[in-house]
Amino acid sequence: MSFETIHVPLGDRSYDVRVGQGLLATAGAQIAPILHRARVAVLTDETVAARHLDTLESGLDAAGIQMVSLALPAGEATKSWPALEKSVEWLLSERIERQDVLVALGGGVIGDLAGFAAAILRRGVRFVQIPTSLLAQVDSSVGGKTGINSPHGKNLVGAFHQPSLVLADIGVLDTLAPRDFLAGYGEVVKYGLLGDADFFQWLETNGPALAAGDRALRSRAVCRSVEMKADIVARDETEQGDRALLNLGHTFCHALEAATGYSDRLLHGEGVAVGCALAFEMSARMGLCSQEDPSRVRVHLKSMGMKTDVADIPGDLPGPEEFIALMGQDKKVIDGQLRLILARGIGDAFVADDVPGDILKSVLQDALSAR
Ligand code: GLY
Repeated sequence: MSFETIHVPLGDRSYDVRVGQGLLATAGAQIAPILHRARVAVLTDETVAARHLDTLESGLDAAGIQMVSLALPAGEATKSWPALEKSVEWLLSERIERQDVLVALGGGVIGDLAGFAAAILRRGVRFVQIPTSLLAQVDSSVGGKTGINSPHGKNLVGAFHQPSLVLADIGVLDTLAPRDFLAGYGEVVKYGLLGDADFFQWLETNGPALAAGDRALRSRAVCRSVEMKADIVARDETEQGDRALLNLGHTFCHALEAATGYSDRLLHGEGVAVGCALAFEMSARMGLCSQEDPSRVRVHLKSMGMKTDVADIPGDLPGPEEFIALMGQDKKVIDGQLRLILARGIGDAFVADDVPGDILKSVLQDALSAR
């Protein structure tokens, strides 16, 4: 087993993120120091359970920790009121107490749902994230955003509830389908674009080998992403300011996800990649960054075989005006004013409060008509 530790400094809500190999098989030893009794409840999904639950169970057993588990159906539909109710009632029926620890074993859906269940169970119990997707390892498992979707939209019901420990086992990424891995890579690229030009350059060099399975490179990419996220979350835990930078590409992405019905046509991380390319195009047209920057972003995404342009999304999409209306549903809208994360260059993003509507419309017109 070998791992690196990134500390998330949040006062009495501080915790470690461990990134490396063999963490699942040694989860018992990792988790034992924070337990009051040798028993945990594990929330997972059926796909992840089939692949990884036995390894977790023997890892816990090796440290004398018993586990009970509930596997929910895999997929976004599980981030829902019915699944939350089922999870919380199950935890109560298993007599999970205030001092106990809940373990979230899965991707972003399970992490967000289990974190929210932990936030409200008996007014709050601790939880450990064991993220099994690249997207969850670099983004959703760190920072304490938990919640479920509402019929009114994604992530509209939730709470900030920080985990007590995050175990990101790089080995579990081997079992991801290439499309899911690359979707998570969209979030990795986002970190370079928003705040670390050297990291983006490193990804340009190492991205292909990393996607092909090199674990040392994967570990490095996850560590750097988590370091950047930890730094931003430590500055702005509840997104009053800088944390919004983590949403680079996301306002475009949320509109694309809504326009594609949250379906398999577009995975979240794919939408983030396309959204980052659009944010750089917008920045260049506003004269904020050079014309070369959006080209460089697109060249890298394309060279990784990722969805890069709106034209890469199959099926029909609405026109620019309807698209702008969908962007207006974003949580970053304040008093009806659209706020976008734009960039002065690669690695230099900022929150723009006054986005010129005519430039936005022309960027979208060109993107949508190139189909
Ligand atoms: N995924 C964005 C954030 O955690 O703030």
